[in-house]
Amino acid sequence: MNRIRDLVAELLAFSKFTGEGGLALTDVRVNDLAQEMIKFIEPEARKKTVKINTELGATLPTVQWDPDRIKQVLLNLLLNALQATDQGGTITVSSEYVEEGPKDRFVRLAVADTGVGIPSEHLEKLFSPFFTTKGREGSGLGLMTCHHIIDQHRGSIDVQSQLGVGTTFQLNLPLDPRAYDRRKAERKRLKPEELVL
Ligand SMILES: Nc1ncnc2c1ncn2[C@@H]1O[C@H](COP(=O)(O)OP(=O)(O)OP(=O)(O)O)[C@@H](O)[C@H]1O
Ligand SMILES: [Mg+2]
Repeated sequence: MNRIRDLVAELLAFSKFTGEGGLALTDVRVNDLAQEMIKFIEPEARKKTVKINTELGATLPTVQWDPDRIKQVLLNLLLNALQATDQGGTITVSSEYVEEGPKDRFVRLAVADTGVGIPSEHLEKLFSPFFTTKGREGSGLGLMTCHHIIDQHRGSIDVQSQLGVGTTFQLNLPLDPRAYDRRKAERKRLKPEELVL
């Protein structure tokens, strides 16, 4: 019943998504938000003896995001990372301010784990609704929802993974989606050497 309730809630939220119109944009301090979500999963991580590292940028500007939505994204990514990581593993959360031109300034967030990794044939299915390898335990809506929220913020979400080594999800988000024309900026893709573990 809980899963059905969650599923219905997710579908309802999803059905309301129309452009970035549905966002409640407000001043957000990115690192505070990341810390808040780390705190949330810390007890579970401790139980599993998974260590959570942070590499949070010291000079991030305040951004205009929908904090509840971005928290939802981070929580999804952190839970996935925790579920994929065995005892003694590590999850690294990082944030960084990137400026690639006067109109191309964004904040990069990454969640990296030393977990099982994702087979290459799964990579292109990850963001599709109902794709899960967790059987009844997973709805397969987590990453699809993340993708939508990041899309609404005019950002991008990318994944790099190596079987048996780990996985990194990287978010690139403009400081204010209203002032950002994504067509003018190339999507930022992770290079293999950027896989932070
Ligand atoms: N960090 C990760 N490491 C390894 N596999 C991952 C990771 N993140 C996602 N996956 C894979 O992607 C699939 C889809 O993830 P998604 O979050 O969309 O759904 P889920 O986690 O299975 O279910 P739910 O999020 O509803 O609990 C997972 O079932 C898993 O196979
Ligand atoms: Mg998930």
